[in-house]
Amino acid sequence: MLTMLGPLQLHKPIVAAAGTAGTGWELGEVLDLQHLGGVTTKSITREPRLGNPPMRVAELPTGMVNAIGLANPGIAVFLKEHRPKLDVLGCKVIGSVAGADIDDYVFVAEALAASGLDAVECNVSCPNTADGRLFSDDPTRLRDLVAAVRAAIGTTPLLVKLPLDFQRISCAAQSAIDGGADILTLTNTVPGLAIDPDTRKPVLGNGAGGVSGPGIHPLVVRMVHDVYIHVAKPAGIPILGLGGIMQWRDAAAMMLAGASAVGVGTALFADPRRVIKINKGLERWVLSQGVESVQELVGAALMD
Ligand SMILES: Cc1cc2nc3c(=O)[nH]c(=O)nc-3n(C[C@H](O)[C@H](O)[C@H](O)COP(=O)(O)O)c2cc1C
Repeated sequence: MLTMLGPLQLHKPIVAAAGTAGTGWELGEVLDLQHLGGVTTKSITREPRLGNPPMRVAELPTGMVNAIGLANPGIAVFLKEHRPKLDVLGCKVIGSVAGADIDDYVFVAEALAASGLDAVECNVSCPNTADGRLFSDDPTRLRDLVAAVRAAIGTTPLLVKLPLDFQRISCAAQSAIDGGADILTLTNTVPGLAIDPDTRKPVLGNGAGGVSGPGIHPLVVRMVHDVYIHVAKPAGIPILGLGGIMQWRDAAAMMLAGASAVGVGTALFADPRRVIKINKGLERWVLSQGVESVQELVGAALMD
């Protein structure tokens, strides 16, 4: 099912979410990546990062909570040891970038684009910055970051990944577009805290974390809908929608709300082969709706 996500042509409408597919090739060991339109690497930083102390991930009745702390090998090791394995995956590869400041983002994004990856995604919705503030919280800072990355990567497609923040999202989405984003990725995990009543301590080594999975799905659908109507559609910028997609109905809802393609993260931990069922379900759904392409259903459930 051919899917256009702005300048990115995907042969399937599903992309593996950042941080849930390793650096990309690891997922290929358990799933034929022809079933995906693309994989996103875990967020790569300029220097290696060890990440947070364990436990880093815990299961919840409605999904999971994690505080990985951006553990990754750093750009130099990524390019040397992982990048060569990504040319044969059979789907697009999106390099996710995180950093403490704008220089960091530019350095890593430029290196990823120069290495020939299909696209770069700026993760501006994680708190591991120099001052602990999200880049997406400050519209001017965000626009400057996106513009600097845009200038550094030339015509390589640029995704900007925003947080689930109903108050700031319209401003943040507009700033990302003004800076030169080609695609908006909505959303990252939602801040959360799991506490163990027996130990009376947080379950995760870091204390707080980010919640993902089915529990956040309706919130993300609402956010995709709002951003699509007020910002993305008028600007002609597509949305990659992700949050709690576990089955084809979730993916369909995300697209009806305005996402041109969808991401899966938590579902891959449950069973990577779910992607196959989601694709089949979407194909049947498109046929049942009497349309020729899934693109015709993007934003087709808008509220008045
Ligand atoms: C274990 C784990 C690690 C993650 N690491 C990253 C990351 O490195 N960069 C990033 O942008 N998002 C990261 N995310 C967020 C996911 O890409 C995704 O936005 C979020 O989990 C919502 O989708 P889901 O409900 O389908 O999992 C991570 C999520 C999980 C569960």
